Amino acid sequence: MPDLFSPFTLKSVTLRNRIVMSPMTMYNSVNGKLDDYHVCYLGARAAGGFGLVFGEQMAITPEGRTTTSCAGIWSDDQIEGHARVCAIIKRMGGVPAIQLGHTGRKGSELPPHKTATGAREQLPPDHPEGWTCVAPSAVPFGGIYRYPVRELSVDEIKALHRAYADAARRALDAGYQWLEMHFAHGYLGASFLSPIANHRQDQYGGSLENRARFHLEALDAVRAVWPDKYPLTMRLGSDDLNPAGTRFEDSVVAIGWMKQHGLDLADLSLGLNTPEMTDPPFNEPGFMVERANRVRREVGIPVAASWNLGVPQTADRVIREELVDLVMLGRPALSNPHWPVWAARELAHPSPFSMVPEDWGWWLQNFRGHAPSIGLPAAAQADQGIG
Ligand SMILES: Cc1cc2nc3c(=O)[nH]c(=O)nc-3n(C[C@H](O)[C@H](O)[C@H](O)COP(=O)(O)O)c2cc1C
Repeated sequence: MPDLFSPFTLKSVTLRNRIVMSPMTMYNSVNGKLDDYHVCYLGARAAGGFGLVFGEQMAITPEGRTTTSCAGIWSDDQIEGHARVCAIIKRMGGVPAIQLGHTGRKGSELPPHKTATGAREQLPPDHPEGWTCVAPSAVPFGGIYRYPVRELSVDEIKALHRAYADAARRALDAGYQWLEMHFAHGYLGASFLSPIANHRQDQYGGSLENRARFHLEALDAVRAVWPDKYPLTMRLGSDDLNPAGTRFEDSVVAIGWMKQHGLDLADLSLGLNTPEMTDPPFNEPGFMVERANRVRREVGIPVAASWNLGVPQTADRVIREELVDLVMLGRPALSNPHWPVWAARELAHPSPFSMVPEDWGWWLQNFRGHAPSIGLPAAAQADQGIG
């Protein structure tokens, strides 16, 4: 039976444990590039024991960003920053992963920590930092995303698929070993699947088969350049929590098709294609796990889930019960770069410091002293002499 600290192998890639740093947009890029900020922030999480380390959603075109401060991989001169990030993650024992994305209707924003009200804010297309968002149909998301959006032509859709492939080629050059497509959270891919956002009458709209075509063609384009030995995964907006939107049952069917098109693992998340959701579960622990497990059983594909899995006992349980294969941590990774070490201590792992780089680990395991004084949070197992 696996536990949270069991290695996980997918294709030719082996992770040292089941703990993933989930992608998180950082609003800290100039011209879409990664720099010292990202090397430090992501290197620290790899040093803290995360097995797989994602940066943020990397835009495949400049208009695919959330804000003009967001990162991307649409140009060859961005490869160098990504290569530095990959190198530090590998040196710290992690596997570097990239999430490719396009924000679609949810672009042209101000960084949320820079708005006057502290709430998220979209900029109008004529603002110097704004642009006209594109989408399957000319239907704004609503709420704060209120400016007109433009419907993509078929030629533009084909160009976006080429942009995914070009970005994947750059990701490979940079040294990434795991590639995820971000087709959740109301961004472009998610909105193609959702009848709330997609009103098209052509081959990309209408039936489930047509609404999933954007996904399958994107997978084909990326798989053609991304080596078979490296995992290709997708974060899928699998449920809009709205009867008129993406329905989970349909997503299960679509993931089956995606598997035929080279998908190696499904990372289940919400659609977030509409502000109108029935009983949004945002305070519930692990609310995506049950859906992910259904995909695991019915489609026969490895799965990952995020959302409120930062309590070590919960994260460990969903792996032990073989509900999911990987646990993705967002906010817990932001607040504690050494979450895996802390979790190991909480779960009475025999060697919590085996998670950190070997040289520090040697000192921490062999020169113990007074355990609570060496920087670990207090643990329930402290009296068992762990750590
Ligand atoms: C600051 C921040 C930025 C995020 N940016 C992304 C992103 O770029 N791509 C993505 O798929 N999810 C993004 N998310 C969602 C997280 O990856 C994660 O799925 C979510 O926070 C739920 O996991 P948690 O409960 O462990 O935080 C972001 C979350 C936060 C807090």
